[in-house]
Amino acid sequence: MSAEAVPLTGYERLPESDMADRLASFQDLMAKRRTIRDFADTPVPRQLIEQAIRVAGTAPSGANHQPWHFVAISDPKTKTAIRQAAEEEERAFYHGRASDEWLDALEPLGTDDQKPFLETAPWLIAVFAQKRGDLGKNYYVTESVGLATGLLITALHSVGLGTLTHTPAPMTFLREICGRPNTEKPFVLLVVGYPAEGCKVPSYALEKKPLSEIVTFKTQAPSP
Ligand SMILES: Cc1cc2nc3c(=O)[nH]c(=O)nc-3n(C[C@H](O)[C@H](O)[C@H](O)COP(=O)(O)O)c2cc1C
Repeated sequence: MSAEAVPLTGYERLPESDMADRLASFQDLMAKRRTIRDFADTPVPRQLIEQAIRVAGTAPSGANHQPWHFVAISDPKTKTAIRQAAEEEERAFYHGRASDEWLDALEPLGTDDQKPFLETAPWLIAVFAQKRGDLGKNYYVTESVGLATGLLITALHSVGLGTLTHTPAPMTFLREICGRPNTEKPFVLLVVGYPAEGCKVPSYALEKKPLSEIVTFKTQAPSP
């Protein structure tokens, strides 16, 4: 296989002071992202959803196979079908399937088996991970789709749209409702819209680990 190479275009080298400023304002923006569970029914134009999904599609992926598919749903009937199926799974989860340890972990978030936002929010984006695609087997599928979903959440947040990463387990019902093939695995159901008036978030979710806990630097070894 021969690999054709083209010049790197669009690359911008910044002075270090600008880099620090840009990172500081990006950190500011991202620190304000919150998972919300109370959505307004205010419509969001389809074009914005398309643009955000284009951003997601720029993610790196194993062998550039781009093993993702996004189903963007605003149709009320489909949203109702998803809510009914999700609540059925969530009832089984909260009242039996979930371990005590898992329920304890969810307790500070105050979540339960009721998912009204699946009908209230203007958009649901079902993200599917493709085990196989046009190019045959896909590689690092979970990692790639996770990265694309992260970019999608970031893009939506950057324009003031709230999201909830929802994972009713199992999510196989999504494949059927969205008409996707069985070579695809439902990855997450992203709920998208504006926060409802007076929307509250769990204070627990504001606690993020400090840098010292999430990073280890290996720099030059101290001289003996
Ligand atoms: C993979 C994944 C699955 C999640 N599933 C759910 C879910 O099913 N229901 C829910 O209410 N929140 C879900 N969340 C949201 C988390 O609870 C939330 O991200 C966490 O509490 C931190 O809050 P923050 O997003 O506001 O920082 C999920 C998040 C991730 C990354």
